[in-house]
Amino acid sequence: MKAVAIRAFGGPEGLAVIDVPAPVPAEGQVLIAPEAIGVGGVDALIRSGALAAYGFQEGHIPGGEVAGTVTAVGGDVDTSWIGRRVWAFTGVGGGYAELAIAPVEEVLPLPDNLSAADAVTLGSSGVVAHFGLSHAHFAPGESVLVRGAAGSIGIMTVQLAARRGAGAVAVTTSSAERGDRLRELGATHVLDRSGEGGDDAPSGYDVVVDVVAGADMPSFFAKLHPNGRMVAVGAVGGQPPADFGAAMMAAFQRSLSFATFSAATVAVHDRRAVRTEQFAAAGRGELRAVVHELLPLEQAVLAHRKMAAGEVFGRIVLTP
Ligand SMILES: NC(=O)c1ccc[n+]([C@@H]2O[C@H](COP(=O)([O-])OP(=O)(O)OC[C@H]3O[C@@H](n4cnc5c(N)ncnc54)[C@H](OP(=O)(O)O)[C@@H]3O)[C@@H](O)[C@H]2O)c1
Repeated sequence: MKAVAIRAFGGPEGLAVIDVPAPVPAEGQVLIAPEAIGVGGVDALIRSGALAAYGFQEGHIPGGEVAGTVTAVGGDVDTSWIGRRVWAFTGVGGGYAELAIAPVEEVLPLPDNLSAADAVTLGSSGVVAHFGLSHAHFAPGESVLVRGAAGSIGIMTVQLAARRGAGAVAVTTSSAERGDRLRELGATHVLDRSGEGGDDAPSGYDVVVDVVAGADMPSFFAKLHPNGRMVAVGAVGGQPPADFGAAMMAAFQRSLSFATFSAATVAVHDRRAVRTEQFAAAGRGELRAVVHELLPLEQAVLAHRKMAAGEVFGRIVLTP
């Protein structure tokens, strides 16, 4: 089968189309012929070599999220999966391929009215957004700031905060055009990347959901109301300063909280339940998956270049 692998760590040009034997599902696994493959920031990190210490070596086939049709199952897996359209989390990779393996507990049937591209755009990001807001103890009526809102996680957080009754949903983004698109998705105030602008924006927020982290992260503590909570769900801007805790301590009398959140800590059945509900809501048109562009699998290099150039609003999806 055709796949895209990391030939050499570094830039997008290190990805290459290769021919490899089709994988065979082991016990507990299914084999999927993807119609759509999600391209995520973590794929770019692995490609760069930054995660080599975690076992991601050259030769690795990236891709953690696919949607398509089950073509075979491992020995102990219910054969009724065969022929079903599904979304799946493949785990550590293997998604950029004509056939991909996933553990059956990470496979979910697709509603008929949800496209494979939409499914891989909201499948993981929706779960991060949902549980990220819960981790921040978000309550209806509270104000939320989504930092780095133009990616798939931010877009879902904006929509879910609005659906769950936020009093205000502010976003940071780098252009007025993106701001307009985020308003259509539920944002009430549009700020620049530093959190400024938005004339009528609230003076503070109960919750900050941060996809960015990086050097500027501590400056957003000042935007939290007393008892405010910031939850870091990503780090697209890199690591925060090592002494960022000092900024939190300096605001001691405002009783602020900081937490990280990873969907890896959510039980599989809770992730499945939320994803099922979100897929149904998306099928009814109540949640929108923003697909930036569909590209053929062979153009994975171009997809990664577009991501590196910051061109992507939502998610790029590859099609085998
Ligand atoms: N918590 C979890 O369980 C979980 C699961 C999967 C992934 N992740 C993490 O989530 C992140 C990816 O999320 P995503 O795909 O939604 O994000 P993304 O699309 O890569 O980036 C979101 C937005 O952040 C803004 N941005 C990028 N670099 C920036 C910078 N240096 N400073 C300020 N803003 C910047 C850009 O928007 P503008 O240009 O409009 O500002 C960009 O569109 C990664 O860190 C990944 O590791 C977390």
